[in-house]
Amino acid sequence: MKVLLDQQQLEAGVERMARDIESLYGGKPLTIIGIMTGSVVLLADLIRKLEMPLRVGVIQTSSYRGTSRGSLTINSELMLDITDRDVLLIDDIFDTGHTLKEVIQLMNSLGPSSLRSAVLLKKSGRQEVQLIPDFVAFDIPDEFVVGYGLDFNDEYRNLPYLACLEPSDLVTSPTTV
Ligand code: IMP
Ligand code: MG
Repeated sequence: MKVLLDQQQLEAGVERMARDIESLYGGKPLTIIGIMTGSVVLLADLIRKLEMPLRVGVIQTSSYRGTSRGSLTINSELMLDITDRDVLLIDDIFDTGHTLKEVIQLMNSLGPSSLRSAVLLKKSGRQEVQLIPDFVAFDIPDEFVVGYGLDFNDEYRNLPYLACLEPSDLVTSPTTV
């Protein structure tokens, strides 16, 4: 696997994003909703860098099988109340954009005061929707990446760096469901 962003680069990018978020909200209370499972590491790192009042909740989405997109499932049963709140959605990567678009539609139907989105990564040349996340820590080339929360069949999320999967890594191991 080739390392695309090491731990120091990731930390610096998340730090920059935290400062941008603080200056946009100017100390107003924020409701952060992490889109699980890919945003788990970013969510944990980002909220500890934000010096402002905030609440944290999660929803779960799932669309990938291996490296190809399947149909999207959204589970928001355990989400916090977001009506009349300033809400910031957090996701790992903005690829085609369909996930964020559908989650935004669902969230908007619940009447937040404002709704913005922040992603760790934006893949270049892949977008299929008219939407750009409000905060992007890194633009990356069109390669399948893992680590720092991103997975291939739910593996590799624990890598502390971001790596490109080589074709030889793309074979699902027998222990993987
Ligand atoms: P989108 O709906 O195409 O924007 O895809 C967004 C979701 O697909 C992300 O939240 C990720 O979970 C997953 N995804 C897209 N590209 C990658 C990748 O390169 N590695 C791992 N997961 C990815
Ligand atoms: Mg994922």
